[in-house]
Amino acid sequence: MRQLFFIVLVSSLVLAGIGACGDPVYDAQIKSLGDEQANVPQGEFHRAGQPCELCHSSSGPASASPFTVAGTIFAQQASAIGVDGVTVAMTDTTGSSFVTKTNCVGNFFVRPGQWDPAFPILARIVRDNRSRTMQGQIGRERSCANCHKDPFSSYERLSSVGHVYLYSPDDVVPTPPTCPVNPRVGGGN
Ligand code: HEC
Ligand code: HEC
Repeated sequence: MRQLFFIVLVSSLVLAGIGACGDPVYDAQIKSLGDEQANVPQGEFHRAGQPCELCHSSSGPASASPFTVAGTIFAQQASAIGVDGVTVAMTDTTGSSFVTKTNCVGNFFVRPGQWDPAFPILARIVRDNRSRTMQGQIGRERSCANCHKDPFSSYERLSSVGHVYLYSPDDVVPTPPTCPVNPRVGGGN
């Protein structure tokens, strides 16, 4: 009886392992992000607001294009529309700084050859006369969206700080430039 239990246990572990390519938790995390959106190619405009690093890392499905830091900057707390041309300025623990800009869906990403920071890092976002500075340090997470989850899920909101955004409710948000894909997460205008 004990032996049978052992065999069942081992074979179910083996099956789970085969089905999930080794790490069921990791695979489930990736799966929970959903499929690619129709009409958005796998490239710089895809998956705005998602934790890029989950896939763009040595063990992920986009291991060919790893990023050292990546994320998305949105217009306002209650608006998941990406903002282009936002300067993302980061400084690491050795004092090394790197500055990059968001594209027209609000995405930015840093490749290892550009900057490979020593964590923890500090982050600040700026466009025109608007800026926001994260007070705390980013300990080791390479995706802003690890903590800054889309607040459109009210459940997630309880446990996250919401997406990164630049403008206050009273600000006039600049008109987005023409973009190959819709910069609003979830479609719509
Ligand atoms: C669910 C997995 C997944 C997530 C999340 C994801 N990507 Fe990708 N991405 C891919 C795959 C797969 C490819 C195509 C294979 C490759 O290029 O490695 C790709 C390709 C790309 C490319 C083109 C490759 C290159 O080197 O130029 C860019 C740029 C890119 N993604 C940016 C991002 C950004 C920015 C984010 C976050 C906002 C993100 N991706 C989130 C899976 C993902
Ligand atoms: C480890 C979790 C975590 C990660 C990763 C993270 N943040 Fe934050 N962020 C926070 C928390 C918590 C706050 C609120 C307190 C504070 O400002 O430190 C915050 C606040 C901010 C603010 C200020 C918001 C305001 O209203 O003034 C900005 C801007 C910001 N983060 C940008 C970023 C960017 C850009 C990235 C990715 C490079 C990032 N954060 C990654 C947790 C995180």
